[in-house]
Amino acid sequence: MKLLEDRIRRDGVVLGADVLKVDNFLNHQVDPDLMQAMGAEFYRQFQDAKITKILTVESSGIAPALATAMEFHVPMVFARKHKSLTLKDDMFTADVYSFTKQTSNTISIAHKFLNADDRVLIIDDFLANGQAVKGLTEIIAAAGATLVGAGIVIEKTFQKGRQMLDEQGVRVVSLARISAFEDGQVVFADEQDA
Ligand code: G4P
Ligand code: NA
Ligand code: NA
Repeated sequence: MKLLEDRIRRDGVVLGADVLKVDNFLNHQVDPDLMQAMGAEFYRQFQDAKITKILTVESSGIAPALATAMEFHVPMVFARKHKSLTLKDDMFTADVYSFTKQTSNTISIAHKFLNADDRVLIIDDFLANGQAVKGLTEIIAAAGATLVGAGIVIEKTFQKGRQMLDEQGVRVVSLARISAFEDGQVVFADEQDA
């Protein structure tokens, strides 16, 4: 998505070898027009898939997930994060390990907001190692719901997440695919292929 790639080039800041800071438009300050355009693109890609629910994880997934839900006119549910494992019998839970932060979180969604009739589209801001999406797929399976696919704002193709989801047969649509950071600059996958 050119609008997003242009915005990443303009406002993204590369930190170290593998992190892109995008707090100007996605992770702290949020650009509503960009969110709307991204929601429309996810809608375009998944409009025939009979989506009934958009799932994400708090907090940074919420903005693009809501924009997408507004296009589909279906509810958006964000999994909540807990530091410790507080098991509750009215919640679906999954453990999510963050390689970036080297911490483990439990994410949870209430039974009443996800059921076997749901056809789910996962939306998230980043696909890196794929642990957040993996946790959501476990919750979707536990609910007996159907995973239709995952819409990702920024995928880093050099980390493990995409391959894992491909191997699981999950349909992934990423609006920007970053293949490398070179000298503090972003290299997009389509540039590399070209
Ligand atoms: P994963 O979600 O793909 O497994 O990746 P990982 O464990 O590496 O990432 C942990 C957190 O860091 C996630 O946010 C993820 O969205 C975020 N993240 C991964 N790579 C980048 C990056 O290059 N730039 C930025 N800005 N974030 C990245 P989270 O812990 O779920 O936190 P939240 O911000 O949604 O609250
Ligand atoms: Na995230
Ligand atoms: Na994040």
